[in-house]
Amino acid sequence: MMTPNLLGALAVLALFDSKARALDNGLGKTPPMGWNTWYNFRCDLNETVIHEAVEAFLDYGLLDVGYEYINLDDCWQLRRDMNTGQIVEDRDKFPSGMTALGDYIHSKGLKFGLYSDAGLMTCQQRPGSLGVESIDAQTYADFGCDFLKYDNCFSFHLPPQQRYQAMRDALNATGRPIFYSLCEWGEQDPATWAPPVGNSWRTTPDIGQRPTWSILMKMTDLNEPLWSTAGPGGWNDPDMLQVGKGHLTLAEQKSQFTLWAIMKAPLLLGNDIRHMSGEILEIIRNKKLIAINQDALGIQAHVVWSSEDKDTVKGQQVWAGPLHGGDFVIVMLNRGALNNVEITVNWNDIPDFYTETTTVVLEDLWNSKNVTAKGSFTTHVQAHDVAAFRASPVTTAS
Ligand SMILES: *[C@@H]1O[C@H](CO)[C@@H](O)[C@H](O)[C@H]1NC(C)=O
Ligand SMILES: *[C@@H]1O[C@H](CO)[C@@H](O)[C@H](O)[C@H]1NC(C)=O
Ligand SMILES: *[C@@H]1O[C@H](CO)[C@@H](O)[C@H](O)[C@H]1NC(C)=O
Repeated sequence: MMTPNLLGALAVLALFDSKARALDNGLGKTPPMGWNTWYNFRCDLNETVIHEAVEAFLDYGLLDVGYEYINLDDCWQLRRDMNTGQIVEDRDKFPSGMTALGDYIHSKGLKFGLYSDAGLMTCQQRPGSLGVESIDAQTYADFGCDFLKYDNCFSFHLPPQQRYQAMRDALNATGRPIFYSLCEWGEQDPATWAPPVGNSWRTTPDIGQRPTWSILMKMTDLNEPLWSTAGPGGWNDPDMLQVGKGHLTLAEQKSQFTLWAIMKAPLLLGNDIRHMSGEILEIIRNKKLIAINQDALGIQAHVVWSSEDKDTVKGQQVWAGPLHGGDFVIVMLNRGALNNVEITVNWNDIPDFYTETTTVVLEDLWNSKNVTAKGSFTTHVQAHDVAAFRASPVTTAS
């Protein structure tokens, strides 16, 4: 077992390591938090709906808990101007234009995100940026853009490394810090090349409009093994949150939020944020889990124990990861359909955790209560639900 001092030293080394590899645009020191239009509005977006979403964003207190990005996905743009070569916004839908929209978003203390594609066209067949990266990056910067999601349609299977690096360099040349979100769908192992290219990279295909629990688990299983490539400046992205969309149970929504938070995934809401119930707000405004997602150490939690039958009704897992200052996050996940399943976490299963004889305080991240335990801890978890804890020692080992 490691002493807390050695663990601290390793944590500092991990920070230096990811710093050396990460894209150097000063952004994404913690995962981005905000809202994206796609999974609720698809192409049916306009100025009015963005204004309403911004008002709701503020009224529901999302900025107060750390959400900040208002990201327009595909269909804000219409065509390319034949004379200037520049992308032109859809003025029927956005009569005041993108610069005015960016000003409005900034005036509310929020950040403004746009979307393009590393191909000839976007997925909805609007102009893509392949080959015209410099012109488009300058247009986005002139609009006041703070975040670019860069998709992968109509790319003729050209190597993604070059296509995505070209936009990285074009964004850099504008001099405006723009969070660069790679949406390459995890096709060519982006975790192996994306850290110096973008601030986040999709590790999965699209999560879809109405994913089932088994699709959520599939996304989770694709993203989890890549945990060591995430860190301050660059994050694994298993696609957006589905909380508040209405097709998942409350337990499933709570589980997605928990897993995405501890995997240090971008916390990008994909629902209609203009109308949210108290139950949904309780999930997305969970400050204790947001603090884990935004933890300064930036280490993605991963599976430390799994039942052999993880994809059956009996599937269970224990997840854990270190936090800044020596605490750990521990999550017990009931992947299966059986209720009231007993799950045990053994201190020995968690790398670099406290010694067997250390009494640990487990702060429940979904209920206001604490328990103490030594060596192991057992609890009951409902179907498709989680139990989540922040662990700290009662007394230090030294
Ligand atoms: C551009 O790249 C350089 C070198 O990596 C970096 O120091 C600078 O902060 C970047 N600028 C922007 C606006 O991203
Ligand atoms: C704007 O978009 C919303 C959501 O799709 C729609 O309900 C509304 O009718 C649209 N408004 C205009 C003026 O197009
Ligand atoms: C639980 O423990 C944490 C830290 O160990 C403390 O900050 C918090 O106030 C405690 N909560 C309760 C309900 O006792």
